[in-house]
Amino acid sequence: MTKKLLDIEAIRRDFPILRKPLPKGLPLTYLDSGSSAQKPQCVIDKEREVYENFYANAYRGVYRFGAIVDEELEATRERIRKLINAASVDEVVFTAGTTMSLNMVASGWGRRHVKPGDEILINEMEHHANFVPWQQLAAATGATLRFIPLTDDGRLDMSRLSEVLTEKTKLLAVTGMSNVLGTINPIGELAARAHDVGAFIVIDGAQSVPHGTTDVATPGIDFLAFSSHKLYGPSGVGVLYGRKELLDETDPLLFGGHMIDRVYKDHSTWAGPPAKFEAGTIQIAQAIALGSAIDYVNAIGFDAIHAHEQQLMQHAHKRLSEIPGMRIYGPGPEHRGAIISFTIDGTHPEDLAQLLDRRGVFVRHGHHCTMPLHDLLGVSATVRTSFGVYNSQADVDALLDAIQFAREKLRVA
Ligand code: ALA
Repeated sequence: MTKKLLDIEAIRRDFPILRKPLPKGLPLTYLDSGSSAQKPQCVIDKEREVYENFYANAYRGVYRFGAIVDEELEATRERIRKLINAASVDEVVFTAGTTMSLNMVASGWGRRHVKPGDEILINEMEHHANFVPWQQLAAATGATLRFIPLTDDGRLDMSRLSEVLTEKTKLLAVTGMSNVLGTINPIGELAARAHDVGAFIVIDGAQSVPHGTTDVATPGIDFLAFSSHKLYGPSGVGVLYGRKELLDETDPLLFGGHMIDRVYKDHSTWAGPPAKFEAGTIQIAQAIALGSAIDYVNAIGFDAIHAHEQQLMQHAHKRLSEIPGMRIYGPGPEHRGAIISFTIDGTHPEDLAQLLDRRGVFVRHGHHCTMPLHDLLGVSATVRTSFGVYNSQADVDALLDAIQFAREKLRVA
């Protein structure tokens, strides 16, 4: 690696879990941030502060604590608005996570607007959360699910986009960054091309939002979904962004308290967005603490985070490529973010992951909720390393040492 871009030791000190050794004094090498990121002290403190100092239900009480909770939640909503450059806080909906956000679009918008004969365009690198809801929507509406072909190195084949993106396309759903291949997709170009044929674009930002700047305005994103827990915030909270006029035309998925305008004995009317989509009691302390996570990443800066993680990924990619029998899936470093999935000839991903764990190296193995992609790759499982802001070159060294240990144990060294 060349220049040190961030003070990683200082960043690591912000994450209490990274300071604690594992049993037998092993240091923790956490390489599963793509699954869920660890939490900095400020996020843990904020959640605790809510419960210790001013907890109450949200959007219901005029008393002191109720008012503080409402203020804090709206301050988080404003931070999210700024983070993604939305035009209004009314376009920012708290959900339970990316999966729920995408299902809300597929059901609430899709079932109202997608008609028989329409086409929904996805591709085989999508996570099941950005795949199955569209498959269900197509089955329910009589629309057809179509696929952007992938190149051999796991990118969208943009040279063939016009074969599948046509006047019939109602909606294009695509991930900002593949959770397996690490591929960074050309969202700006896809949005422009979708809009040229009158289609709408939905972005699964679960993997992309934590790693770089997100701007829903410049390429003109129609819907964006992402999760707090991959962005160093609490679990159980996610975000759905939708353009105001689209949210106005989206039906709520959940019905109940807070989301109504007026309830009569024979029918009801809904509040405007975002309340229309926030029925029941939302994840109050968690959503407030997401605001602290956003402050945390903003203080470091997304440009610096991106540069650091890219440098780390490039280094890891190079070193991993040198291991005999190594197969890395996805494009070269110039087209990918901080995720590397691989297999090693003669080893099973689960055995590998278990042996890495014995060295304190935490990685994910399996199909990573992307069965169609693994079918395409011709493997049932891969090992995945995914990096966060706190990872360092020492983590890559620990990974390589642990892989060597595993290869010796499995007798492929
Ligand atoms: N979607 C998360 C992952 O890719 C859970 O691991």
